[in-house]
Amino acid sequence: MKIAFAGKGGVGKTTLAAWTADLLARQGKNVWMVDADTALSLGQASGLAAGALPQPLILREDLVRERIGSGIIDLNPAVDDLPEKLCVDVPGDGPGRKRLLVMGTVTGAGGGCACGANALLKALLSHIVLDRDEWVLVDLEAGVEHLGRGTIQGVDALVVVSEPSHRGLETAASIGRMAGDLGLENQILALNRFSGGEIPALPGLPETVFNLPYFQGLAAKQLTDASVLGLPEIAQVDALVMNLLTALASGAKAQAA
Ligand SMILES: Nc1ncnc2c1ncn2[C@@H]1O[C@H](COP(=O)(O)OP(=O)(O)OP(=O)(O)O)[C@@H](O)[C@H]1O
Ligand SMILES: [Mg+2]
Repeated sequence: MKIAFAGKGGVGKTTLAAWTADLLARQGKNVWMVDADTALSLGQASGLAAGALPQPLILREDLVRERIGSGIIDLNPAVDDLPEKLCVDVPGDGPGRKRLLVMGTVTGAGGGCACGANALLKALLSHIVLDRDEWVLVDLEAGVEHLGRGTIQGVDALVVVSEPSHRGLETAASIGRMAGDLGLENQILALNRFSGGEIPALPGLPETVFNLPYFQGLAAKQLTDASVLGLPEIAQVDALVMNLLTALASGAKAQAA
């Protein structure tokens, strides 16, 4: 199954993606973690040291030139070998394997025309989300701008993460609407740091809602450690993630039927 995590900045996309990958790996699944964010955060949230992170694909000018060319852009570059070549293994409690790919984003690619890098990134993302029979978790860049066909193509499910505020929910609703327009109907709203109250009915907001409480143990850990794993609340986190995955799986079945 291939799941993307989207939402406004700072709402918990990376945290939830790291938790999901970790639970799946502990259940024996192999997981590709795709960091499509500008900040190199999914690896660090999973306990990788900054120095162990792979170089973002977008900055690999050599690869871009080799696969895309420097004149007319090849929109169908060969990318089959790239996931293995570019990934790093993320240590965990196994037995499944967690592998991290860092895409970077076009906005993070600096000045000049980034068309080539963008084409390579999109090709790789659709390849790994279309052709691989493994778990793929894509941690998307904050906001809605990136949510084009290239990044969402081949994804089975979307977790829209939001804080429980009207502005946050408006962004979540825009994301839900855009993804729906692109044919991705299997969506869940993960309401993070929710402590109760009525959720406004905004058109586009995913109908299935999961609440995540504020985790004191996570906040305490984040003061000294970038990793969001190994929390005192792990049993509660695992149960929440398991429910989320079950709901997404039944949504995927319903969409396929
Ligand atoms: N339920 C929670 N309880 C306590 N702290 C949380 C919770 N969820 C997320 N956080 C903390 O909030 C911060 C932001 O979370 P995270 O980096 O996952 O958000 P993000 O949506 O990926 O942000 P960005 O848009 O910058 O990529 C992190 O320090 C994370 O540990
Ligand atoms: Mg993030």
